[in-house]
Amino acid sequence: MAVERRLLIKAGDEEYPLYLGTGLLARTGEILKENGLTGKILVVTNATVAPLYLAVVEQGLKQAGFTVATVILPDGETYKRIEELVGVYDAAVACRLERDSAVLALGGGVIGDLAGFAAATYLRGVRLVQVPTTLLAQVDSSIGGKVAVNHREGKNLIGAFHQPAAVISDLETLATLDRREFNTGLAEIIKVGLIGDPELDRFLRREQMAVRQQQIPALVEIIQRACAFKARIVSGDVREKGERAILNYGHTIGHALEAETGYTYYRHGEAVAVGMAGAADLSVALGLAAPELSQATRELLQAYDLPVSIPGLSASKLVSRMALDKKVKAEKLRFILSPAIGQVLIKEDVPPEEIFPVLYRLGAV
Ligand SMILES: NC(=O)c1ccc[n+]([C@@H]2O[C@H](COP(=O)([O-])OP(=O)(O)OC[C@H]3O[C@@H](n4cnc5c(N)ncnc54)[C@H](O)[C@@H]3O)[C@@H](O)[C@H]2O)c1
Ligand SMILES: [Zn+2]
Repeated sequence: MAVERRLLIKAGDEEYPLYLGTGLLARTGEILKENGLTGKILVVTNATVAPLYLAVVEQGLKQAGFTVATVILPDGETYKRIEELVGVYDAAVACRLERDSAVLALGGGVIGDLAGFAAATYLRGVRLVQVPTTLLAQVDSSIGGKVAVNHREGKNLIGAFHQPAAVISDLETLATLDRREFNTGLAEIIKVGLIGDPELDRFLRREQMAVRQQQIPALVEIIQRACAFKARIVSGDVREKGERAILNYGHTIGHALEAETGYTYYRHGEAVAVGMAGAADLSVALGLAAPELSQATRELLQAYDLPVSIPGLSASKLVSRMALDKKVKAEKLRFILSPAIGQVLIKEDVPPEEIFPVLYRLGAV
């Protein structure tokens, strides 16, 4: 039996549907037609995802009457850059993509961000359909309208806000994801439980088996909750001026770890997992949370094979990285902390001296 849930996501005056379920890839064309799209679709995907899922999407689009063109990019974060963007513009020109046409991103967050930026800028904006195929993309990058490519000096430096016309998340695509990639997406779901959804947190603790085995009802439950939470936060802060910052729980330390290890050692969710252990410790150290928070956070992360320690990195280098991070205000560091499971607060003026013991406890030197 096919499963299908529909959430309505609000972003300022805009509103778009998110479809979550099984068997949705084949129905992509039908769904887009139901949502008033017609004409041409430029599908952007990569060399890993194309052999798995392009044919079924393409066939459904054609059956629903769309004219389809495709761009297949090389796989990897390295290719989330201007050079590949040019290739997408070239394809858009070649197939004469028009104002009422759409770009469809079929893949993980890299494809979603790059194709999304192409859609935001081509003809000053054409419609964007997100078809996320990684867990991280389904719960995080496909929602909220942030699109970007990297510059060699830094991640996501060239970007825009461009809300999708629809998001179509087919849970069956997760079956081909490797275990490490699945867990990296789980870290963002665990984050939502820890900062804003205690029921999700309890579910993740209680239903570990079902989640690890990727049983569909369990996936629907956790993905739907994570999407609903992100959608709620983003709808109140579309252009990231305030509350949206809470989504960066665990990311201040996480980003520093990723940067310090050259973006090769950790997957994003792994770095965030370590960062969440650190954020819990810091919340405790500052007297904002009871000591049990540290243990409870570690238990859950470890239950999903996520790391909670830093192998011998320099604490002072990490603190310098945090000060450089654009989400941190100068001198005093800004941290997203948690007073208890399911709750969050923003602390603006954490002195660096408070961070060192936390990093040492995580294994930094
Ligand atoms: N826009 C946002 O708000 C936002 C939020 C979080 C992350 N991001 C961005 O998202 C990117 C990370 O996304 P990601 O974790 O999805 O990485 P990714 O897009 O690189 O995908 C991870 C790997 O899985 C492969 N893959 C994708 N779907 C698959 C499937 N169904 N089966 C097998 N393999 C599959 C990909 O080809 C890739 O090798 C980063 O560039 C990050 O900056 C953006
Ligand atoms: Zn993240």
